Amino acid sequence: MSDLEQLVEQARQDFAAAASPALLEQAKARYLGKSGSITAELKGLAALAPEEKKEAGGRINRAKQSIEAALEARRAELRKAELDRQLAATAIDVTLPGRQRQTGGLHPVSRAQERIEDLFRSVGFTVADGPEIESDWYNFTALNMPDNHPARSMHDTFYLQGRDDVLLRTHTSPVQIRAMQAHVARYGTENMPDLRIIAPGRTYRVDWDATHSPMFHQLEGMWIGEKVSMADLKGLYTHFLRRFFETDELEVRFRPSFFPFTEPSAEIDMAFLTGKHKGKWLEISGCGMMHPNVLAFGGIDPERYTGFAFGSGLERLAMLLYGIDDIRLFFENDLRFLSQFR
Ligand code: DAH
Repeated sequence: MSDLEQLVEQARQDFAAAASPALLEQAKARYLGKSGSITAELKGLAALAPEEKKEAGGRINRAKQSIEAALEARRAELRKAELDRQLAATAIDVTLPGRQRQTGGLHPVSRAQERIEDLFRSVGFTVADGPEIESDWYNFTALNMPDNHPARSMHDTFYLQGRDDVLLRTHTSPVQIRAMQAHVARYGTENMPDLRIIAPGRTYRVDWDATHSPMFHQLEGMWIGEKVSMADLKGLYTHFLRRFFETDELEVRFRPSFFPFTEPSAEIDMAFLTGKHKGKWLEISGCGMMHPNVLAFGGIDPERYTGFAFGSGLERLAMLLYGIDDIRLFFENDLRFLSQFR
């Protein structure tokens, strides 16, 4: 092998050993750079006789071309390797299952509540609300439970620390008073239109067992007008239950009871005629004709207007609707339970 052939071979090996474009350019400089071996060979031509020059020049140039070709081939190789590496790094496996977007959902009690709101709106009711931190006056006094009234002890109440006049409302009934006051403020008492509201919301009592939670939901309802009667209440509530459960296969009964804010008072029981709870009477609501004192506390003349009210347990209705048999499931925040309602 001639010296030049050896040089070309050496260059090929050097280029092959260069693992990156930068190293390859360094290797190139050793052959083709200003003080590279080929450059030195070309400079050496000057010392030769003219007839030798031509022949030697040709050989050096061929060697140079070989080296340049080897360089270009190695450059292409390195470029391809880099591209392959990038492609591999960003590869997408189209056979993998897609990433699913997690969607949230409404809590079953909220769902039941929205369903109830829609039903009552469709028969001319509006949805009212009031504060969960309530005054003693709205929660008890104005509902015909004065200080020391025995009915107050039926409510195990959370009072605010250091206060005996501010509490977490024990029922949604104080919204009755607030709604009456707002209605009277808006329309006056002379020719006021009927007042029809429901007031669903959170309520609080000192209670915690399998069927009681310290926070629970009630659905208050109220209709006040000039000739509103118990018959209207029975018709409306029965209609509501049949729409809510989407079946006429249920019976409703009104059982005499007592509440300080209604007279007469009743419990509403219902029984499904088919299905899992068939024939079993379930208590779902208190109700009655509004006591004259309560109308008066709301600023409405009890001689002229009458009204009915009811207060139902929202969890109870939701449990029956969705077939849930333990109230605690609502409050444990177990996704296996909640995600069934997405
Ligand atoms: N507020 C009552 C309770 O929490 C429920 C109730 C009963 C509400 C009769 C009413 C009603 O509006 O008329 O026990």
